[in-house]
Amino acid sequence: MQKLLIKGKRNLFGKINISGSKNASLPILAGSILFEKVVIKNIPSVQDISTMIELLRFIGMDCKFIKKKNFIEIKKSKKNINAVAPYKLVKTMRAGVLVLGPLLAKYGKAKISLPGGCAIGSRPVNLHLLALKRLGAKIKIKNGYIHAKAENGLRGNTIKFPKISVGATENAILSSVLAKGKTTIHNCAIEPEIFDLINFLKRRGCKIKVIKRKISIKGVDKIDSNAKVHNVMFDRIELGTYIIAAALSGSKVTISKVNPKIIKTELKIMKKMGVKLLIKKDKLTIFKSNKIKNINIKTKPYPGFPTDLQAQMMVLMTRASGKSKIKENIFENRFMHVPELRRMGAKVEIKNNTAIVDGPSNLSGAEVMATDLRASVSLVLAGLIASSQTKINRIYHLDRGYFALEKKLKKCNANIKRI
Ligand code: EPZ
Repeated sequence: MQKLLIKGKRNLFGKINISGSKNASLPILAGSILFEKVVIKNIPSVQDISTMIELLRFIGMDCKFIKKKNFIEIKKSKKNINAVAPYKLVKTMRAGVLVLGPLLAKYGKAKISLPGGCAIGSRPVNLHLLALKRLGAKIKIKNGYIHAKAENGLRGNTIKFPKISVGATENAILSSVLAKGKTTIHNCAIEPEIFDLINFLKRRGCKIKVIKRKISIKGVDKIDSNAKVHNVMFDRIELGTYIIAAALSGSKVTISKVNPKIIKTELKIMKKMGVKLLIKKDKLTIFKSNKIKNINIKTKPYPGFPTDLQAQMMVLMTRASGKSKIKENIFENRFMHVPELRRMGAKVEIKNNTAIVDGPSNLSGAEVMATDLRASVSLVLAGLIASSQTKINRIYHLDRGYFALEKKLKKCNANIKRI
């Protein structure tokens, strides 16, 4: 099993480029099932993407992924469609459930493995199924699989989500674009990645309108497979991660070709904490930030502070003078990084779903274990500022969502290597 070795306390300087968004790419790749052919650019070559491509091939889509160019062409193959998402693929990548909607919409049937839990929580899919049932799908759960049918196609309807869910919103959109009639979805997630999916679908003839958290969709029976290439948006969580890395140990780090407006909340919070930031149109410069102030934040659905940046923010809080609090409102078990950070000297206590971080604490290098994607990158951030060496085990978690992390950091003078 590969590990990362980091020698801390080096000053980062230079340029970091941000890859395409994993969480925008995954629903768009699932949506390719609706079309004869799609071409997509700026797809990050990370493990979750490879797993989704493997799933699309298993279903019967021809996928030509040119990793070096982050470019993929997907065509419906001549083979019969195998409307199945097997456990072996879905268990490692929960977003596999996103093929459920497109398969039902296009082929009227789907057999999808239940995702099962993961380190951060139980990951139920009841809201996905609620949406599909509202559109007329017949759903049965048996032997760990979702058996879904819509023999006479899906019919537009009103869907009211009792709780905001990114994945369920995406599945509802992907199912209703071909349904007969109009669908109105209330209490939707409005993450930027959802707008990227909507743009991808609209440019191919789908009729979608968004007003606040309400999405209205008029089913069409013809969609355009010869549309031009779709460029996936940048990864806002990767961006937030590297801003925090630079705030922790940067002397001057510039990140360009991003849209700072998309991470308005995160930037406001970091500025309040004393992070030295220069924001130009599509370029951010982060300077060494010596005096970090403590702060209390809660994770919320977009446009609130993202749960995917909670673990990384906790490391920044270890540099703040005084007590900071971070309340995790989205997932029930997303503090797996805390025991590992404690082993490096972080002073963190947990009360229910709130972590209280006392600072400033000087972290020292240790051997630690990654548990999930964002927890693992928080250990990298801690390693960058810790004295002596940090060894991070199980970095396959990292490879699921961060493209060339050690290369990008090494280019900025970090002492980090994979063994
Ligand atoms: C997406 O997961 C992201 N993944 C997650 O990023 C992100 O943390 C999450 O949204 C929240 O922003 C992708 O986009 C591939 P949810 P998703 O449905 O869609 C509960 C990362 O690190 N829920 O918005 O699975 C659920 O348990 C990953 O890149 C139900 O109860 O998240 C959670 O508590 C981690 N029933 C809450 O809703 C359902 O049917 C929000 O989950 C679905 C979800």
